[in-house]
Amino acid sequence: MTMTPESIRATAEAFRERHRPGRVRGLLVAGSGLSLEVPGWERGGVVGLAEVFDFPLHELPGHSQTLTLWRRGGESLLVMNGRFHLYQGYTPAEVVAPVRLAGLLGAEVLIATNASGALDPAMAPGSLVVVADHINLQGSNPLVGEWGRDFGPPFPDMSAAYDPELRRRALEAAAAAGFAAREGVYCAMLGPSFETPAEIRMLIGMGGAVVGMSTVPEVIAARQMGMRVLVLSLAANPAAGLVDRELTHEEVLDEGRRAAVKLRSMLGDLIDQLL
Ligand code: HPA
Repeated sequence: MTMTPESIRATAEAFRERHRPGRVRGLLVAGSGLSLEVPGWERGGVVGLAEVFDFPLHELPGHSQTLTLWRRGGESLLVMNGRFHLYQGYTPAEVVAPVRLAGLLGAEVLIATNASGALDPAMAPGSLVVVADHINLQGSNPLVGEWGRDFGPPFPDMSAAYDPELRRRALEAAAAAGFAAREGVYCAMLGPSFETPAEIRMLIGMGGAVVGMSTVPEVIAARQMGMRVLVLSLAANPAAGLVDRELTHEEVLDEGRRAAVKLRSMLGDLIDQLL
């Protein structure tokens, strides 16, 4: 089925009826699926994404197709285990469906993690970049057409898309969790091929700190709906051409696994502080 503003509203209503999430405080989109522990919150259930959304799902190795509902009293937190990418063939509207769902259920905050390539040769793999801004080179925007009319302003301001207060807290939590961390600009490419060395030189020239293939559509939709946004990017590999070897999806997944424990403790701390 093609998703429409009406159908995502119906999806949100059905979710509310079926899962009774109460006041949804936020949405966490955890790149490759993290087994989160949040002090004070209880895991309320794992829901298959195929049961929630009415468009066909595409498989992706390393990404689970579920959503976890965490609960605390009458409140809840939605956690997407994995995400939808444009390069898998999802439309921009489908990519941001979890943000629409959470936003329609009242979420005030979007926290997203992703894996990226480091554009600075001095940045060690496993470093964390707290995203301060982005450059959208994906050639699409989730607010095109009817989506620009229905959920908030048609021309949302993006000058402070990445919440300064959340960034400050994230830098502190990252240091406490043992990450080398800094702020930087995330360059979003469509993928799924990795970049060429010439493209990487272009991105460095533009002032990017990391390059990836996700998250920017979600940020745009969340800002349109008035949500505060925090994005943490795990620099998993040196970008193409910065080292004399090939890039593989495996090395990205490996670095993600290595960082999982630190990321989990950091996200637990942050959620505890913020919600
Ligand atoms: N480029 C784009 N996306 C990525 C990379 C990269 O080098 N590493 C992880 N995601």
